[in-house]
Amino acid sequence: MDTVVSGIRSTGNLHLGNYFGAVTNFLKMQNENNCFFFIADYHSLTTHPKPDDLHANIKQVLAEYLACGIDPETATVFIQSDVPEVTELYLLLNMNAYVGELERTTSFKEKIRKQPDNINAGLLTYPVLMAADIIIHRAHKVPVGKDQEQHLEMTRRFARRFNTLYGVDFFPEPDAYNFGKKLLKIPGLDGSGKMGKSEGNGIFLADTAQVIRKKVMKAVTDTGPQKPGEKPSEPVENLFTIMKVVSDPCTVKYFRDKHATCEIRYGDMKKQLAEDIIKFTEPIRERIAEILADKKYLAAVVSQGAEKARQSASRTIREVREIIGYRPF
Ligand code: TRP
Repeated sequence: MDTVVSGIRSTGNLHLGNYFGAVTNFLKMQNENNCFFFIADYHSLTTHPKPDDLHANIKQVLAEYLACGIDPETATVFIQSDVPEVTELYLLLNMNAYVGELERTTSFKEKIRKQPDNINAGLLTYPVLMAADIIIHRAHKVPVGKDQEQHLEMTRRFARRFNTLYGVDFFPEPDAYNFGKKLLKIPGLDGSGKMGKSEGNGIFLADTAQVIRKKVMKAVTDTGPQKPGEKPSEPVENLFTIMKVVSDPCTVKYFRDKHATCEIRYGDMKKQLAEDIIKFTEPIRERIAEILADKKYLAAVVSQGAEKARQSASRTIREVREIIGYRPF
């Protein structure tokens, strides 16, 4: 059985794109592997969140993943900052990470552009902390999106470098988790491109029915009238794509046919789509609220996760210290 590690950003709520992309794959993944899912709340300090916001975000993200079906009995679900062992490995790995290679990292160069007033050392060494997250459980696989591929490559390099420096075969070089068929991409409501948090074009699992209706009714469709035989424009096709994952196949067919015969009324289509999204997300939204209200349950999940994660992490740290030469007298 492979060990899989995945870090979850502690900022931002889950939207439909996350749900049908990452989350549904996590649900499958957790049954077939020894999974460690954690909330990367050390990483989030690079943007200096307020203490109340930091805590609220961690709680919200945790509740949302649990509501989606991430199972803390099957996987190890924990909060990064509950496992201080990772900071020790981070320090140790920093000694063999070179400033030059860190400065050349794409994500770092992007941050320099985006937050020129806050280019802190945590940003520079972000990939080292991420590598520590992964190799502290001696993981074989990491599910990563395109934007994290370079970080995973650096993790492999740091693991290899440690092994070479000390002449050991201790850390596996983790590979990207292969989801088999391509990840489902959910488009946004703004006419083109993927659904994203920062794009402001998304529907969040925590959105109320009212908010969902408002967002869907405002979704971009066609500008001009459609000509017979014409394929749906990109914005309209995007609505069909979302419909395909939340609606009944008959509903999709009904509107496809209406489109083909130029009888479609986008207002009707959007009304239907909004109701189907609401129907799909309602149980998840209710479950999120339930979990958020259940302090006892959340506390139990978090402490059980921390215990399991620390067991695995401290075993690694013990061996790493021995390899490096920190030995008992
Ligand atoms: N950098 C990842 C992101 O922004 C989050 C992350 C932190 C992570 N540590 C990780 C992902 C370890 C996978 C493994 O999405």
